[in-house]
Amino acid sequence: MLTTLFLGMELRSPVIVASGPASHDVNQISLAERHGAGAVVLKTACSDKYQHMRFWPRPRYKLLDWDKQIAGRSKQFSLYSYEQGYSGSLEDYWEFIRVCKRHAGIPIVGSIFADEAGDWAAMAAEVEMAGADAIELDISSPHRPGSLEFDTTSVAAMRAVVGRVHIPVLAKLAPGTNVLKQAEAAEQAGAHAVTLCNRLQGIDVDIESQRPILHGYYAGIGGPWAKYYTMRHIAEAYRTVHIPISGTGGAITGEDVVKYILVGASTVQVLSAILINGWETIARMNEEITGYMQRKGVDRLESIRGQAVASMTPPDNIVRWSGEPLDGTRNIWKEPGP
Ligand SMILES: Cc1cc2nc3c(=O)[nH]c(=O)nc-3n(C[C@H](O)[C@H](O)[C@H](O)COP(=O)(O)O)c2cc1C
Repeated sequence: MLTTLFLGMELRSPVIVASGPASHDVNQISLAERHGAGAVVLKTACSDKYQHMRFWPRPRYKLLDWDKQIAGRSKQFSLYSYEQGYSGSLEDYWEFIRVCKRHAGIPIVGSIFADEAGDWAAMAAEVEMAGADAIELDISSPHRPGSLEFDTTSVAAMRAVVGRVHIPVLAKLAPGTNVLKQAEAAEQAGAHAVTLCNRLQGIDVDIESQRPILHGYYAGIGGPWAKYYTMRHIAEAYRTVHIPISGTGGAITGEDVVKYILVGASTVQVLSAILINGWETIARMNEEITGYMQRKGVDRLESIRGQAVASMTPPDNIVRWSGEPLDGTRNIWKEPGP
């Protein structure tokens, strides 16, 4: 019922484990599979030029204001973190892909980060040779040095990669004001899908020490609150680009996954919910999506993709209050009674 065709891969669920600490070793891949994930995007490997990014500060995560939230299976949190690339060498990473492919029954998506177009292409070729089913270009990490935009360097990288490999290539873009422009640029440069969106970059400060918390620099920040702008970015891109969209950012429940599909996503990549609420999150999401489909009489998710976008009201047609204009002088201030 949940089967989803995505970039030529038949996924048994639209729920994919997003690149990060839940896809950094082989045992996690089997946990993802056992809990019903449709595919896994592996932790991003950085080019040798960025090998310092293979070492992480500790601690590298903080749940902001966790003490003020309901502990346990939370629906509200902000996950603040500074974790950069896959922690092994590139040789380790190619071997990691090979081992995953030998054991996993679900598609494995490699993920890479570099800057020079030649490095992107060479790494992509290795990912393909190791057997990955697709590759995601992490153009937008909040920890990436320099611009997070899909700029001219990214266009060159995308062209070099699609010119080199035969597996599908996804461009993972950053949230912001011009996601749509970036998605169009990625499509024109040959991306087969866009992943919308990576996390925001933020900072939190400890007022006692008067210093930034944890490692002392900006961090990635996300949480369930991210879903509203993520959905907007997906909806905008769905109207304009012609390649599939993998939504990511803020999905915590099966209901969220359904919403992302209704605004145009083909698949939904999930990470924070797994980190906070456990691997069962995936099984729970699958059950909730199935329950929704049964209740609405939907047999394939493709049939509802983009429904909410199709019924959006253009701003000029929004029904507005059309009575008398408000007359400020009629608003007489009344002092509260004794
Ligand atoms: C601790 C952590 C590490 C991450 N590492 C990567 C990474 O290596 N590569 C990448 O493309 N995205 C990375 N991400 C982003 C996730 O893949 C995902 O797109 C993002 O967290 C939004 O989804 P979520 O709200 O379900 O967590 C990371 C996120 C977190 C929280």
